[in-house]
Amino acid sequence: MVDLIPVLTEDQIRDKVALLAKNISSDYQSDNLVLICVLKGAVVFLSDLMRHLTIPVEIDFIELSSYGNNDVSSGTPLIRKDVHMDLRDKHVLVVEDIVDTGLTLAALVDYLKSKGPKSVRVCAMIDKLERRKTDIRADYVCHTVNGGFLVGYGLDYAEKYRNLPDICHLKK
Ligand code: XMP
Ligand code: MG
Repeated sequence: MVDLIPVLTEDQIRDKVALLAKNISSDYQSDNLVLICVLKGAVVFLSDLMRHLTIPVEIDFIELSSYGNNDVSSGTPLIRKDVHMDLRDKHVLVVEDIVDTGLTLAALVDYLKSKGPKSVRVCAMIDKLERRKTDIRADYVCHTVNGGFLVGYGLDYAEKYRNLPDICHLKK
């Protein structure tokens, strides 16, 4: 049996995403912005965030493997599916579901920088602080938690719960 304890409700998520999108729209204004969604967890966040942006954006997707069906990061992400777009002269904003140790994100940012964009910044739905192992901070964050394994709103445990409208703490 597992317990699902709500951390953020659908309504709270909507307000936070709208506010974040307002800040992003004002920071980038007329720039050449590409949102890079980290599959699969950030897909729900991307779809809400992009519809709140008031600036022109392009989107692309990348898929990494770091967790498999486990809940502990291996720390070295492999690229399962790469971006298709030429990122030279673009401003890249990585759209990530959750930053935990930060190892995945640090490696991803380095990788994307090697593609010659004008800038790389990070936007994360959840910043989870307890197990952080790098200096990396997301530039835009919807919500910060100390720890716990979260599911819903795209986040999964062994591929389940991604479709929950709320973000919940999963207790086994
Ligand atoms: P690191 O530790 O490298 O890993 O920052 C980040 C990635 O790990 C996954 N992750 C989670 N997924 N609930 C999830 O569904 C969680 O609480 C959680 N914590 C980390 C996620 O894919 C993230 O991109
Ligand atoms: Mg992820």
